[in-house]
Amino acid sequence: MQFCPCKTLLRVLFAVFKSETVQVWPETGPFLEQVEQHLGLALGLEKQYLVASRLQPIARARGMEDWRALLRSLSQSPVGELHWACFEAMTTQETRFFRDDFCFETLRHTVLPEVLERARSRRVLKVWSAGTSTGQEACSLAILLYDHFPEVRDWQVQIWATDICEQTLAQAQAARYSGQELDKGLSSEQKSRHFLIQPDGHFSLAPQLKRWIGVARHNLLDPVPETGFDLVLLRNVLIYFRANQKSQVLRCVHQSMSAAGASLILGASETIFEHDLFIQHKAARGGYFTRHDKFS
Ligand SMILES: C[S@@+](CC[C@H](N)C(=O)[O-])C[C@H]1O[C@@H](n2cnc3c(N)ncnc32)[C@H](O)[C@@H]1O
Repeated sequence: MQFCPCKTLLRVLFAVFKSETVQVWPETGPFLEQVEQHLGLALGLEKQYLVASRLQPIARARGMEDWRALLRSLSQSPVGELHWACFEAMTTQETRFFRDDFCFETLRHTVLPEVLERARSRRVLKVWSAGTSTGQEACSLAILLYDHFPEVRDWQVQIWATDICEQTLAQAQAARYSGQELDKGLSSEQKSRHFLIQPDGHFSLAPQLKRWIGVARHNLLDPVPETGFDLVLLRNVLIYFRANQKSQVLRCVHQSMSAAGASLILGASETIFEHDLFIQHKAARGGYFTRHDKFS
């Protein structure tokens, strides 16, 4: 990892400008540069409070004095397991079932009818929920397909749910949620139809939907893990990336898509400028793009 003094100096100046009372510790800048390099997440020095609050428990669990001692120790060794635990701690996992319900309305009424039309002769549907967090996005899509497109129940449906963060993936893999998590976005009918209550009071996704979802760890900055996707959901992930890394990820996503016309859904407020790769469908609410025909 190359330490870039200019970048760090700019960040310090920005943080000082934002709040003259907050002291920025010298350990923070190099760590945030590593986070950006390895994950793509660009967090400014004004987010030092986040570094402190997220890393303090890790420092304590390792018997270190505080988060600053942890960062000093990280800076003295090559990137390894502890670095990754700290990088992952800086991610934001916020999600919920049917998050931004109008995106799912667009999926139901506009995107999926077109996607299924293309996939009908194959009877295989491949979807990628990239940056899935704890898996609610993948489950929502499975529920939508099962309830509103019954023909796919006999197809080979593969929903790839990937994320960088091991901890969130464990929950996505189990597809197990608390009642409170289910209440965020699901109707009581959807809950009783698609989840089974467990002896400990948690709820598990029913097997007929769970079999469609495969969970894997994947860093979006790495080459694509799989190709041939008919639909990619990449929602609320790239908002934290700088333009060059966002572009790198979008080129990989483009490569992963099955053909011209394959669909990409971004977060509701996200947009892209890679017009050579994707066509934006502005009439549909919810960040709907299709792979550019030029590459078919
Ligand atoms: C805010 S959540 C979005 C979850 C879901 N897509 C949604 O919209 O509800 C962002 C997720 O992106 C993941 N993430 C961040 N950087 C990543 C990277 N470089 N590769 C893969 N996943 C990443 C985080 O771990 C986190 O779970």
